[in-house]
Formats: sequence, structure tokens, C-alpha cells
Amino acid sequence: MNPESKQRLTDTFAIDPSVTPVAVAIDGSWLDVDWDDGTRTGHDIATLLRVGEARRRPAVRASSGFAIPAGLQLWSEPQEPSWFDAGVIDDDDRWIEALDHLRLHGWVAFDGAALGETAARKLAARIGYPRSSIFGDFWEMKSGATEHMDSAYETFALDVHTDGTYSHDAPGTILFAQQVRTGDGGDSVLIDGFAAARDFQAANPDAADLLTRYSVRAHYIEPGVHLVAERPPLRVDDDGNLVQLSFNNYDRAPLLPADGLVDEVIDAYNAFRAVFTDSARALLHPWKPGRLLVFDNWRLFHGRTEFTGDRAFFGCYTNHEDLEGAYRVAGLTT
Ligand SMILES: [Fe+2]
Repeated sequence: MNPESKQRLTDTFAIDPSVTPVAVAIDGSWLDVDWDDGTRTGHDIATLLRVGEARRRPAVRASSGFAIPAGLQLWSEPQEPSWFDAGVIDDDDRWIEALDHLRLHGWVAFDGAALGETAARKLAARIGYPRSSIFGDFWEMKSGATEHMDSAYETFALDVHTDGTYSHDAPGTILFAQQVRTGDGGDSVLIDGFAAARDFQAANPDAADLLTRYSVRAHYIEPGVHLVAERPPLRVDDDGNLVQLSFNNYDRAPLLPADGLVDEVIDAYNAFRAVFTDSARALLHPWKPGRLLVFDNWRLFHGRTEFTGDRAFFGCYTNHEDLEGAYRVAGLTT
């Protein structure tokens, strides 16, 4: 764990769930645990007590199952990346075709945009408006930047996730305007999370149902900032439709038992993650200056391959209600 941001750096999915402690030692306020797989972990006792005793247990809602909203083109095999000409953003008729691609597939990309902020701001204005957050409303992000402690600023591969699990109103879309790219790697990785949720429910309905009912807490911590929010990884509306995925193991807070369910939740969480991280589902979007990529953060998981060299982009979030509104205004939904 990054001691300052509290972001998780350990691959918790790789830990054998049957691992057991073989020895413990307390040194003042510190607890060391030796595990039967040969590892040793260290724990601050005051933190363990605070997490284990003081925190409210998550609520568990009664429900069963979910449906996928009609009219989407779910994809569970890698799509070929494709790009609209960036001139489409300025063309009222052809823009609707691009917007419909976003609605059907959860993403849309453009090539040939002029470098700078203008194209990205126009694209954001087609969908809504840049939504302000702790990162500002319109970001310039470069590898090696240090304004925030987030793992997005590093060069290692980013496990696929959704953004804003620590926000009560997670960003609806994420928009990247690629400005600089040298070296290798650094592709955007996209996964259709709704397709993965459908397949997960078909294979493991009880586990999928549990993830619609158990709220997972997430946090974002840096100096002067401490955000916390929680909701089920699979959020279902009152009509039983899946409406939003929330899954970010970097920002996940510790799971606590509710009705004795924590082992089942961990199993379900890991099982869902095993479905959606199957590389056979991944769409890799290679980066090139002048490309724009926007995707639905409530439906798609995104990540990034490891990279070398320089990689810089402008980016912003927009709200999901604005995205839904854009679809209605264009006559694509009612
Ligand atoms: Fe992200």
C-alpha cells in the first residue's frame, strides 16, 4: 500500500484465500504476521482496531439478479479499434453517428485532431461539459507528473477499473486527447463491463446477485483531501436494470463483514474480476498524437499497458446524466 495515498499496490487477487498465519509478534504498536506461504506482513495495530471496530458495517439490500438495458451492443471479444475523422465533431449530422457508436459500444474514438485543448473541449461540449473534481475540470497529464499521488501518474500497467469509486456520483465519461507519445506501450485497455456482468451472472448468479447488494467502500486520500463513498460493484436501478459498475481495487477500502458475508463477498468480487480481466475481452487502443478517446465510465472498465518514453494528454470527465441527455436530444433514446 502506498503509505500516503493509501492506494493498494498489492495484487490481492493473487493471494491464496486459504493462506493462514503461522506466527505473530507484537512490537509496541506494530504487529508482524508470518504466513504459511512464507510471506511476512506488518500492520499498525491502531489502524487495524480502527478499521475493525469503529467503522459502520455496510448495508446489504434484499434483491435478486439484474437485466442488461436493452439496445446496447455488448462485446465480449476484442473489437478492432476504429476512429472517426475528428472533423465529425464539428459536423451536426455525422456527429450523431459517432455519438451512437458511444451509446452502442461504450466508447468512440477520433483521429486527426489538431493538438492542443480545443478539440477535446469541443468534444466534451458535444456530450456535456467538463466536470470539475479534485483533478480540476480539464487536466493536462504527463508521465512523471507529481501533482497527485494517483497511480495514473506512474508508468506501470494499470489494472482495469472504473474511475471515481470514491465519489457518490462517479464520472459518467472519461475523455482523453492524446498529445505526445514516444517509446513503447501505453495503450488504453477497454473492457465491456456490462458484457462481463452478463456473463458473470449467467455463470455464477448467486455471486453476481451478492455484488448488486453489498456496498464496497472506496477512498481517495492525499494531503488536504479525504474522499469516501460506497455502493455495490453492480448497481441496479428500481426496474432491475444494471446501470453502473464500480470496481477499483487500487482505491478500495478494507471489506468489512455484513451479516457474516465477507468471505462470500471476497469470493464474488474476485470471481467477477476474473471474468472481466480475461485478456480475450480487452480492446487495446494504441495512442498517437491527435487521437481522442471517450468512453462510458459506468459501463466500461479501463486500464493502460505499461509504457516507456513520454505520454501526455489532455483529459476531462463529464457527467452521466449529460451523456444520457445527449442521447435523448439526438433521438437515439427516449
Ligand atoms: Fe482510471
